Amino acid sequence: DQIKKVDRYLYAMRLSDDQLMDISARFRREMEKGLSNESNATAAVKMLPTHVYSTPDGSEKGEFLALDLGGSKFKVLQVKVSEDGKGKVQMESETFPIPEEILNGNGTELFEHVAESLKSFLQKHHINHTRKPLGFTYSFPCAQSKIDEGVLLSWSKNFKARGVQGKNVVQLLRKAIQKVGDVDVDVLAMVNDTVGAMMTCGYDDQNCEVGVIIGTGTNACYMEEMRHVDLVEGDEGRMCINTEWGAFGDDGVLDDFITSFDREIDAASMNSGKQLFEKMTSGMYLGEIVRQILIDLTKHGLLFRGRITERLKTKGIFETKFLSQIERYSSLSGLRSILQSLGLDSTCDDSIIVKEVCGAVSHRAAQICGAGMAAVVDKIRENRGLDNLEITVGVDGTLYKLHPHFSTILKDTVRELAPNCKVDFILSEDGSGKGAALITAVGFFLVVFLY
Ligand code: BG6
Ligand code: GLC
Repeated sequence: DQIKKVDRYLYAMRLSDDQLMDISARFRREMEKGLSNESNATAAVKMLPTHVYSTPDGSEKGEFLALDLGGSKFKVLQVKVSEDGKGKVQMESETFPIPEEILNGNGTELFEHVAESLKSFLQKHHINHTRKPLGFTYSFPCAQSKIDEGVLLSWSKNFKARGVQGKNVVQLLRKAIQKVGDVDVDVLAMVNDTVGAMMTCGYDDQNCEVGVIIGTGTNACYMEEMRHVDLVEGDEGRMCINTEWGAFGDDGVLDDFITSFDREIDAASMNSGKQLFEKMTSGMYLGEIVRQILIDLTKHGLLFRGRITERLKTKGIFETKFLSQIERYSSLSGLRSILQSLGLDSTCDDSIIVKEVCGAVSHRAAQICGAGMAAVVDKIRENRGLDNLEITVGVDGTLYKLHPHFSTILKDTVRELAPNCKVDFILSEDGSGKGAALITAVGFFLVVFLY
């Protein structure tokens, strides 16, 4: 009986096929808006040109360094792509923690921390004797007028260092590297993590022309026809567009789907009113939505015997990994012990309810990501005048990788909403750094060729 009441409570989180189709159609309109010169300035979904004109062809080679900043981990990587092309990529990487005070400090300190980490990596691996090309994966929305420039439009997720917004981050990085000294690198390319994921998977699969991240944040990129990219001159060929779909809904177009729980998450976030789609779908926020619902259910006496504990009031207790664990467990004792480890004392009924809430929240997230993705692949199909399209999507991100059902629900939704597209999904392991190196490889040869 109690569970039935909860079910009714979760009604607003459940989406019908028609509603999903509607969301997909709305996203498609937002894509057009972002691409067009007339409406781009006011578009919520920015559709940013990346100046990446093709996916890898397997002939890339050389030794590269990459920095990967903006996901749950900051990494420095060394990537070796050998002569005989395909499948011959060796990587070494190291994760460097970013202290909280640097995340919240000023931009100069953040970039100096990045440069220091790079220096320590080079010293440790004894690779500081020859000048190396470097690709920078920077997972935030940037306006790019060329591949080695990117002006930060706004921070998202949990980053907010001062004095970076509106600045060219490649320049900030170069300056920091110079200041730190003894680091002999050429920063040749700056790419979004979605682009990195697409390039990595594209190296093994020529059909991979979409990159998606479902991790701390969420976003997608894809190969668009140049004739549709108003912001860049020229009509020939294609260019990768970073959609920044996390901002879908920031202009109100999703208002009828946004629940009171989503509003609470938004109000308590660092970027209120921004990245509304991201806040309904990605790892940084799903646990918080669950927590808000649990608090509300408790207030209504449907959970935890009506007692709201300090623990339940603590922001951030439900990390993505807990959400994944709760949904993976079928045994009540397993469930209860996870809740116990979170400091939540639960009865058997409580644990069933918590699992149900987690399921509703992650199900909706996967479905609406699927709706976005369906719009992307169907646009590519139409662009090419095809009745049917076969395409591969490179995907990365902790939520997608760790959650037991997210990927299945996402794939089912895409199949349902884009029936004329046969979509393969491949995981891009550590993809963004490797992808940045591959883009740098292309850029590197261009530089050699030009000078
Ligand atoms: C990683 C990429 O594999 O996935 C990062 O290399 C990216 O650049 C990340 O941001 C996204 O996942 P998460 O879950 O770490 O935000
Ligand atoms: C956020 C960023 C975007 C990034 C995504 C995934 O949405 O704005 O640039 O791709 O997170 O990391």
